[in-house]
Amino acid sequence: MKPNPLLGVVLFVATITPLHAEPDPHSYAEPLKVSISALDLDLAVDFSKQELAGQAELSLDWHDTAARTLVLDTRDLHIDAIEAIDARGSAAAVSYTLDANDAILGSALRIEMREASPKLRIRYHTSPKASGLQWMTPQQTASGKHPFMFSQSQAIHARSWIPLQDTPSVRFTYTAHITTAKPLRVVMSADNDVHHVLDGDYRFSMKQPIPSYLLALAVGELDVRETGPRTAVFAEPSLVVKAAKEFEDTEKMIAVTEQLYGPYRWDRYDILVLPASFPFGGMENPRVTFATPTVIAGDKSLVGLIAHELAHSWSGNLVTNANAQHMWLNEGFTTYVENRIIESLYGKDVATMQLVVDDQELLVEMADMKPREQLLVSDLTGIDPDEGLSGVPYDKGRWFLRFLESRYGRADFDPFVRAYFDHFAFKSITTRDFLVYYSANLEKQHPGKVSAAEIDEWLHQPGIPESAPIAHSDRFDAVDKAATDFLAGKLAAKAIPARQWVTSEWLRFINALPAKPDAAQLAALDKAWKLSGTGNAEIAFRWYVATVRAGYTQARPQIAAFIERIGRRKLVVPIYEELAKSEDGKAFAKEVYRKARPGYHPITQASVDKALGL
Ligand code: BES
Ligand code: ZN
Repeated sequence: MKPNPLLGVVLFVATITPLHAEPDPHSYAEPLKVSISALDLDLAVDFSKQELAGQAELSLDWHDTAARTLVLDTRDLHIDAIEAIDARGSAAAVSYTLDANDAILGSALRIEMREASPKLRIRYHTSPKASGLQWMTPQQTASGKHPFMFSQSQAIHARSWIPLQDTPSVRFTYTAHITTAKPLRVVMSADNDVHHVLDGDYRFSMKQPIPSYLLALAVGELDVRETGPRTAVFAEPSLVVKAAKEFEDTEKMIAVTEQLYGPYRWDRYDILVLPASFPFGGMENPRVTFATPTVIAGDKSLVGLIAHELAHSWSGNLVTNANAQHMWLNEGFTTYVENRIIESLYGKDVATMQLVVDDQELLVEMADMKPREQLLVSDLTGIDPDEGLSGVPYDKGRWFLRFLESRYGRADFDPFVRAYFDHFAFKSITTRDFLVYYSANLEKQHPGKVSAAEIDEWLHQPGIPESAPIAHSDRFDAVDKAATDFLAGKLAAKAIPARQWVTSEWLRFINALPAKPDAAQLAALDKAWKLSGTGNAEIAFRWYVATVRAGYTQARPQIAAFIERIGRRKLVVPIYEELAKSEDGKAFAKEVYRKARPGYHPITQASVDKALGL
């Protein structure tokens, strides 16, 4: 039989490059023609102009020998000059065009090269409104003494501070030279030196290839405390001791994850606590997770977030989804691993309660979603990946993996997941790649345990399949009884047995309140348990939403304080959305937002603008 020549080409491409053939709907880049293999950044951080200025040098791998055009992703970047650098190191100017801005994708930068040069140097500076950077005045920081800036590149904001192929299907190594004003510290998703003198001149190197969304930079008045042999916490000085205490179990978390899924491959795992305007809970930047200060509850009750970001060191940073349509491979696996870490460290009770809450909240969220939005794998062409984010890739993805776990049993499923991480380490993959590997390495050895129709239903049908395992928590039976009795007027607020409740038990209780709670009942709860003003942000935002639904307006001062201080999208957007449902609530929300908006990150501003119809 004659070998199929096409198949030969496909196999050849697959073995020589780690690139994925499936196009990324959120990037203009054409990585199958030419791809970035290394990035060398040299940038000055200018707080007075609110800009990064300098150059990016890109090392190029030319896969298509006829190709001469390099297309890069940019957004609001000012390009000053572009030069090609030949093998002997001589530079020559090249011509380029910058396309008009697309609201979601930014502007394609088309560079016409005379030959397939190994390197390209781009001199550029960023715009003060770069969507991936937040510039903060001294007044917006804890000490009030120095300005602060940080990046958030995921989903597609790296292009607003570096011209590059902004798609997770391309991986590259990087170095950086960053200069800034003297007392400030620079932190990057690279080899941070906890003993670096604060001289304003920093050099970094990231030797493992990473996708663009993991590029990260923060500059500010930052102190550091080591919490273990390979862990440390960076934070503003007034917060660093408290933060180090909250995160003192991090080394234990790394150790239990290594037990389950193999060695941690990124050397150090540090945590950077950002100002409260950080738009996310956490961001898994390699070697240094960026985290919101709202996880510091004082009793370690919210460190599940650290377990989540740490888990990304395997699911995501090591094995990456090739584009946003396969996000469940990243967030679903991570949410699954997060729960396994919590179970190992804090016990089955705590882990199961979290599962039950997450399952229930996913079902509630999905009830208001279009069928298309409920799919684990879907076409996201024309959809902003920030707005397309929901509980589906996280919790439906995690639920799917728990389904597989329940059918195959941990004795076989755990080694499969571990081998999957090894097999695809430092690669970017799609659901198809996962399925091929699954068929050959789990299904084939244990035929008949899971049908193709069941897998198809999980991946390609809306809703949660009948085959979903239902988690049950005995401890919640007591919470449910308390809720029922309290709501029926049979149990006084102060008689609720909540003194020993952990966070999940409070979430279960609040979620048991009716769609329109009784204002007097909420007032009684508040008097007995001081929920308004709680330092636990997960309890707080659910409680505030309930108070708005009930028309319990006495909580408004605490709501105002909460949304003025915090810029984490998940915590504030649901409150604004709920307030926007009534005329009076909307007026109050707009009034508070007027003061809060300048302190919010561009990503949060965009979401709240939308929630309030601005
Ligand atoms: N990588 C995500 C954050 C993200 C996702 C940013 C998509 C931009 C686009 C991070 O790992 C995450 O999921 N953070 C969660 C916390 C987690 C415990 C669910 C968050 O920020 O709320
Ligand atoms: Zn995540």
